[in-house]
Amino acid sequence: VNDPAEFVRSSIERLRTEIPGKAIIAASGGIDSTIAAVLTERAVGDRARAIFVDTGLLRAGEVDRVAAYFRAAGLAFSVVPGAERFFANLAGVSDPEEKRRRIGESFVRLFEEEAGRFGADRLVQGTIAPDWIESGGALRDTIKTHHNVGGVPKDSTLTLVEPLRDLYKDEIRALAHHLHVPAPERQPFPGPGLAVRVNGPVTPDRVRRARVANAVVEEEVERAVAAKEIPAPWQYFAVLLDARTVGVTGDNRVLGEAVSVRIVESVDAMTATAMAVPRPLLSRIAERITRELSREVVRVLYDVTDKPPATIEWE
Ligand code: XMP
Repeated sequence: VNDPAEFVRSSIERLRTEIPGKAIIAASGGIDSTIAAVLTERAVGDRARAIFVDTGLLRAGEVDRVAAYFRAAGLAFSVVPGAERFFANLAGVSDPEEKRRRIGESFVRLFEEEAGRFGADRLVQGTIAPDWIESGGALRDTIKTHHNVGGVPKDSTLTLVEPLRDLYKDEIRALAHHLHVPAPERQPFPGPGLAVRVNGPVTPDRVRRARVANAVVEEEVERAVAAKEIPAPWQYFAVLLDARTVGVTGDNRVLGEAVSVRIVESVDAMTATAMAVPRPLLSRIAERITRELSREVVRVLYDVTDKPPATIEWE
């Protein structure tokens, strides 16, 4: 895309033919799906409805933040509650790929219901080229089945519309600038949410612990960045491990869980380096996590592995 204005013009024209009736737009709060939503609303107006799903797997404050972001982008949207469905569908599942499959399935079923209610037969997604390439659609091996790709089963009543599927990130940035869509303030966050940061079984209680630990890492890292103690990392988060480990509180030994902190530098997420962060920052993070999750999380580790061989997320 050399000319964003021309891309906007031609994609609006194409969206008008691809959406003869009504559409729902799967808006994740990321820049790609927000742009897809803005283009679609420009093309077909209120025949399209953007929805953001509260999966119960979101970070602290995420719903409010995403709502503010959509408002800044000038997007009409609604928030659909989905936590019960997602947790029910994840019950007993520990395998990372199976988690993604179940989450993708929950998204699709929820989208189908919402579409049914609205009278829509099209589902607009913000898939961009690297999404389907990473998911094995073309050149590379299957690294991960991103929910926004392999997600829609053959028997679905919805036809996919993907206005950005041939674009790369730099083209997305140019398009965002042209459409006055601001860059999201927060670091990238995976579509399957905290489910992939809860190693092992995904329960509301374990997700709550992962949410608290992730909030601590975000606050402390962002404070350190603001104080110029460290450069801004690419991603920084916590993973609740599938481990039982012993801690002490006062005179009591308690059996708790462990959290791994991951802070990485990267340019495009294809490779990444574990950041050599100052030890006092790690100590603050460990102190806060074990205090705010007292008797629940008793040990905090720092992940020093680069990508490759590890991936950025643990799952
Ligand atoms: P990995 O862990 O493969 O992650 O090194 C590379 C980048 O992709 C994000 N990620 C995902 N994003 N659905 C997403 O939308 C997913 O299933 C998924 N898995 C990983 C990850 O946060 C990192 O930015």
